[in-house]
Amino acid sequence: MLRQALLAVSKSQRAERVISTSPLTRDVVRRYVADDVGAVIGELTRRGLLVTVDHLGEEVTDREQAGQAVREYLRLLELLPAGADVSVKLTALGLRLSEHLALGNAAAICRAAAAAGITVTLDAEEHDTIAGLHAVHTELRGDHPDVGVVVQAYLPEALERCEKLGGARVRLCKGAYTAPVAYTSPADIDRSFVRCLKVLMAGTAYPMVATHDPRLLRIASTLAVLEGRDVTGFEYQMLYGVRPAEQARLAGLGAQMRVYVPYGSDWYAYLMRRLAERPRNLAFFLRSLVSR
Ligand code: FDA
Repeated sequence: MLRQALLAVSKSQRAERVISTSPLTRDVVRRYVADDVGAVIGELTRRGLLVTVDHLGEEVTDREQAGQAVREYLRLLELLPAGADVSVKLTALGLRLSEHLALGNAAAICRAAAAAGITVTLDAEEHDTIAGLHAVHTELRGDHPDVGVVVQAYLPEALERCEKLGGARVRLCKGAYTAPVAYTSPADIDRSFVRCLKVLMAGTAYPMVATHDPRLLRIASTLAVLEGRDVTGFEYQMLYGVRPAEQARLAGLGAQMRVYVPYGSDWYAYLMRRLAERPRNLAFFLRSLVSR
């Protein structure tokens, strides 16, 4: 219930105006969103962590905004070290306006990224954008075989998606939005996650295991061993600000650990999804509002 309510609030422009203009929200935002992205990337890299960087923004409604997002990514690519990844939301690149527009914009980012030795991964968003996401991903792979895509385990179609993504970089996560067809019970989502993991680990995809869930992390490392994958054959991914000690521990063991670092002023919907993931976060957020 609370999760659904927060996800509904994440789409409310009125709530966005109230919450995002409050100076009191700043500390909570800083936990999940990089204030100084260059400094954060430098620090994570120094500590042996890999990064994927997301310029925040989504659901753009005109071509100019989509063009601005592309220009921001081109600037970002100049900042990043080779081996980094950028995470891109197709609705920020105009997917709601046209698939063709989003494809052209994503291709421009992929070309610049390839020249800099950086990979691109396409985030998965609301359920009604998933068909477009996979259509664009398939097209992009023609010229950019290493472009990655996110699969959300809460969708019953996730397993079939994974089966079709042989050879691709696939980031597997539980799913952070709402979808009429999605599994809602944590046990069903976890079971779907494990079914997908088994297919990815056994196949030719490059699995990017995007979870903070200790049980799923253990299952992933066991499956990797069983399938004969060494540490370069898959990677763990976690969000900036979530379980940083576990991120450091996995990197310390020699695993490839990539941190998803979001930055930019358009953080509202992203923050609301993080609060929705964990009711305890909401209490933390509300406390920060009243304790000033
Ligand atoms: P779960 O929510 O069960 O959390 C397990 C544990 O992790 C919790 O008990 C808690 O300790 C900690 N934790 C998790 N979330 C937390 C939070 N917000 N704050 C504090 N602690 C928290 N989703 C999507 O729909 N499309 C996408 O493209 C992506 N991309 C993506 C990239 C990466 C790198 C990650 C790690 C995640 C995503 N997600 C996503 C989000 C994903 O779908 C999911 O909502 C979150 O990862 C939370 O799910 P967990 O698997 O961590 O499990």
